[in-house]
Amino acid sequence: MKLKIAGVEASSLAARFGTPVYVYDQGSLENRMREFADAFRSPEFDCHVAYASKAFCCIAMMELVQREGLWADVVSGGELYTAVKAGFNMKHILLHGNSKTDAELELALESGVGTIVVDNLSEAGRLAFLAQHYPQAGTRVLLRINPGVEAHTHAYIVTADIDSKFGISITRPDEICETCRILHESPALTFAGFHAHIGSQIFEPEAFAAEIDKVCSFAKQFQDQTGIQVSCLDLGGGFAARYTDKDDCPPIPVICRQILEAAARAKKQYGLQVKELIIEPGRSIAAEAGYTLYTVGGIKDTDHRRYVFVNGGMNDNIRPALYQAEYDADLADHLKEPKDEVVTIAGKCCESGDIIASDIRLQHAEPGDILAVYTTGAYGQSMASNYNRLAVPGTLFVKDGLAHWVIRPQTPDDLIRNDLSLNHTEAGEAE
Ligand code: LLP
Repeated sequence: MKLKIAGVEASSLAARFGTPVYVYDQGSLENRMREFADAFRSPEFDCHVAYASKAFCCIAMMELVQREGLWADVVSGGELYTAVKAGFNMKHILLHGNSKTDAELELALESGVGTIVVDNLSEAGRLAFLAQHYPQAGTRVLLRINPGVEAHTHAYIVTADIDSKFGISITRPDEICETCRILHESPALTFAGFHAHIGSQIFEPEAFAAEIDKVCSFAKQFQDQTGIQVSCLDLGGGFAARYTDKDDCPPIPVICRQILEAAARAKKQYGLQVKELIIEPGRSIAAEAGYTLYTVGGIKDTDHRRYVFVNGGMNDNIRPALYQAEYDADLADHLKEPKDEVVTIAGKCCESGDIIASDIRLQHAEPGDILAVYTTGAYGQSMASNYNRLAVPGTLFVKDGLAHWVIRPQTPDDLIRNDLSLNHTEAGEAE
């Protein structure tokens, strides 16, 4: 049996478009977005789902996000520029980042970004200063606070421990109040509330309930102290995706319902006037819709393992090397055949850690087979690099039996596009 992606055989995609290649089932992306949009609704709050574009960002993806009625969060000038070029409604964009440059803040003010999520005291001062030049922008701002809730499956993606580089910890209430005063007093800015993000690949909806309780209890204390109203809470992303059989992800409607219930409870308990809630799923929208197709090169046995080499690796998927992330895979034309070999799928980079999957069960592989790795749609393409001067693979969207590029594969010329020869400088053309 052959693996099909959105009605097209994976091996025929490989034959037509080449490998390695990232492939997205567009319908699956759309379904995920709709599932979130349908589930994250409440009569009590104005609810927004903002896709965290860091998970996978390109013009076509931003077009899709907008078409499905979602908002989007961006964390850099590059992601923001992509959203601008995709014709995204700037009012529906949130700009994040702990180290935004003046140029990024100005681009956000200039292009009319709806919400800027301020990270720290010094940034608040810089933003208030820059915003003087855009008095009519009336940009809404949230402050990222760190509620100290830890929820994560890997230490590298903890973002809410109190020493985190992100946001201001609620153990520093005076600093939070001072930062908010600066934002509140700027005539060009509108302070609306707080943002928090407690980690990634979170399986327990209770973690979000704990986050909401901490943020709301802090908001109450903050309002009492400053008299500044909190009308909006952005609860971040972090909802888990299913990479292997071990991952037992709660369904999206369940997570959304628990978040909405916890928010309603906390609003009442702390007597808040919160009117708007935002969540920022990235991985849970993009991961499972994505596949990476490789061609098997060599097979090599050592004393302890069998390696299956593929024509890509850590340059197209850094996650196993960086987070010991686990993936599942199949030989695309041998689905349902017994997986009676235990193999390690290794890439072609000059690094022992360049492994796509360690000791996984696979059908018997031969050179030339097409290998499909599942769930590579989030933080794969978006974290790709040119290490070893490998080209970043292209990205396909497939829907209703039709496939087309949304990001073309890099060519050898792309790899040297910005290189300058020594002769260039010697000829006195240096800038
Ligand atoms: N909002 C904020 C402020 C974030 O920092 C993040 C992720 C998200 C939303 C989206 O989180 P998600 O729903 O995708 O978990 N490169 C790592 C993940 C880093 C996530 C960083 N922030 C990985 O490949 O696992």
